[in-house]
Amino acid sequence: MSKIKLGFSALLTLILLGMFAALASAEGFTATPSNPAPGINVGTIDNNGDANQHRTHGNFQNNTNSCGNCHSAHNGSNETLLKFQNSEPDMCLSCHDGTMGFYNVKTASGAGIFNSTHESASMHDVGKGIQIGSAPGAYANKSVGELECSSCHNPHGSVNDRLLSESVIGVSYSGLTKGTKSINLELKEDPAYADINNSSTMSGLKITTSVGPKGNTDKVNYAKFCGACHDDYLGSSGAPNHTNHYGHTTNSSSAGRNCASCHYAHGTDITMLKDTQGKTIADYVNGGWTQEKAEAYMKDVSVNSKGVKTSSLKKYTNMAVCWTCHQSSHAIDTQQPEDKYLTDGVDRYGNPIKLFKGKSDIR
Ligand code: HEC
Ligand code: HEC
Ligand code: HEC
Ligand code: HEC
Ligand code: HEC
Ligand code: HEC
Repeated sequence: MSKIKLGFSALLTLILLGMFAALASAEGFTATPSNPAPGINVGTIDNNGDANQHRTHGNFQNNTNSCGNCHSAHNGSNETLLKFQNSEPDMCLSCHDGTMGFYNVKTASGAGIFNSTHESASMHDVGKGIQIGSAPGAYANKSVGELECSSCHNPHGSVNDRLLSESVIGVSYSGLTKGTKSINLELKEDPAYADINNSSTMSGLKITTSVGPKGNTDKVNYAKFCGACHDDYLGSSGAPNHTNHYGHTTNSSSAGRNCASCHYAHGTDITMLKDTQGKTIADYVNGGWTQEKAEAYMKDVSVNSKGVKTSSLKKYTNMAVCWTCHQSSHAIDTQQPEDKYLTDGVDRYGNPIKLFKGKSDIR
């Protein structure tokens, strides 16, 4: 009898160990209020005397140690006293490269990807000394600053979701006064981090996933955010820009004509690119294609206005996104997109056109 009992508890221990190992490998390590992520040292008691983890970005408490995660009082590597690393993105990546488990910018997310190991990759090349004023479509933007993570994010906190800066290159792109939220993103709690999300000692820290700007105003403000640097690319159809070129509508809240409809913020690569039907390489491989064939099909072969081959941070491969909406205005000689995500509309010449309708990952 006791033998069986022992067997059972040994089995139970094994099962529990197995579950723990599965949990631990899913999240890398177990979060506690004083150590919410590997290498982060923060306090455990907040301003109100409650047991609470401190945030790394913003909401700083009067007994904060958060500054010390990024700054060094005497041994900074640059004039903003950033710690240890060669460049600011290196510092951000010391946590956001997967060591924390969550918010790993080197893997696919709603923001795209910073990872050039795959084919058809293109991204905002942070930390490479690129001048912000050299952004394609820059007209009013004559910034001499370098493109870094903090060109778009405020690591000290922001009223906007994802710490998106309230002003970019010193301009309040939304026209709102500082402290007014202009960009809400459609965020959902990430079920992989349920233990953190349900904890009452994590200062309300929620690990979320995003599919992009949420409401109509947010979509327009998101386009204005991108437009702060790429100002000549922000506009409506039919109006020439400063270089006397015409552009597609990019500032509309309806029917997917804002930057987030067609582009990621960080970057793209062949694993993220979609075709007109919204399908990825993974979908074709699941459908029976070889990986090799699916990659050859999805690769981006386009060339930009300067003659350089680049996938331009796009969500869709090549010009596939154009065909998604404009497939009913002319003779249709190939396979059509899946109609369930599209709705009928007319363009300003009265031509029939398909427009994106409420699928949660189409902006
Ligand atoms: C997540 C990393 C991070 C944390 C935490 C952090 N900082 Fe910073 N801080 C930065 C970065 C990056 C810059 C450079 C920003 C830039 O170049 O625009 C900076 C710049 C600064 C500057 C100079 C420019 C400015 O924006 O005023 C000061 C002062 C500063 N930080 C103070 C603090 C203090 C005080 C704390 C703690 C309450 C803190 N920081 C916490 C990353 C951080
Ligand atoms: C010491 C580790 C660490 C460093 C360095 C760091 N972060 Fe974070 N980051 C975190 C943690 C932890 C969170 C979760 C939210 C929090 O604690 O504030 C986070 C969250 C974020 C988020 C999502 C915010 C949200 O709530 O949706 C963004 C965006 C971000 N970080 C950008 C940056 C940028 C840009 C830098 C460099 C200037 C940076 N981080 C440096 C640890 C770090
Ligand atoms: C060109 C502007 C820009 C630059 C440069 C940039 N970001 Fe972002 N980042 C964004 C935007 C916009 C989002 C929100 C995208 C969305 O959810 O639609 C975002 C989202 C994020 C997130 C949340 C990702 C998630 O899981 O949803 C993190 C973390 C982050 N950025 C960190 C960084 C770090 C670290 C760097 C530098 C290596 C950086 N960002 C550079 C614009 C930028
Ligand atoms: C802080 C200024 C800044 C903001 C904000 C910004 N960009 Fe950029 N962007 C640049 C610069 C500088 C370049 C050129 C350097 C490079 O290619 O890395 C660039 C390049 C690009 C490219 C061309 C990349 C290529 O491979 O040719 C695209 C597409 C792009 N940005 C889209 C966007 C979108 C979409 C947003 C909003 C989510 C945005 N940008 C926000 C500065 C900015
Ligand atoms: C309807 C889809 C669509 C929208 C909306 C859109 N873009 Fe693009 N964008 C593209 C495509 C496709 C390309 C690559 C082919 C080309 O340039 O013709 C591109 C290329 C770019 C480039 C690189 C061009 C160059 O000269 O190298 C930048 C920068 C850019 N877009 C920024 C933006 C910004 C900023 C917004 C929002 C204000 C925006 N785009 C909205 C589809 C779009
Ligand atoms: C989300 C749907 C959508 C996508 C994607 C899209 N368009 Fe459009 N397009 C429209 C609408 C709607 C109009 C009517 C003008 C307007 O309201 O902006 C239009 C107008 C046009 C026009 C007529 C000129 C004008 O500005 O009125 C051309 C040409 C055009 N699009 C080409 C393209 C190309 C090339 C792409 C790919 C880069 C593209 N479209 C992607 C919806 C879309």
